[in-house]
Amino acid sequence: QAKVEIDLASIPVGKNVIVKWRGKPVFIRHRTKDEIKEAEDTDWQKLRDPQADSDRVQKPEWLIMLGVCTHLGCVPIGEAGDFGGWFCPCHGSHYDISGRARKGPAPLNLEIPTYEFSSDEAVVIG
Ligand code: FES
Repeated sequence: QAKVEIDLASIPVGKNVIVKWRGKPVFIRHRTKDEIKEAEDTDWQKLRDPQADSDRVQKPEWLIMLGVCTHLGCVPIGEAGDFGGWFCPCHGSHYDISGRARKGPAPLNLEIPTYEFSSDEAVVIG
């Protein structure tokens, strides 16, 4: 369907969930305080796809992005890789805890879909 609503109250701090939206996986991570700090403290201007964490999230504790590797479209694995975020096993791309491409062939950060918080405990993707 065009839009999908997700109940966030059921996602504990430090956990990932994957939902399907328009046939694609969407990654939702409830980030910890330490993860938020790491994401915000990264010297992003030097990254291959330079983007501040604040331009990738609406609320720092909720990282919401498409689970589609920007290299050739595999689904990266969560809580993996050298940067505390995601790792794509197809050709070895590493993404950080903001979903930014840090190492390997991925040219771009994981894409952020359109979404809005419909309440304090729910988000609508699409
Ligand atoms: Fe992810 Fe190639 S598709 S590294």
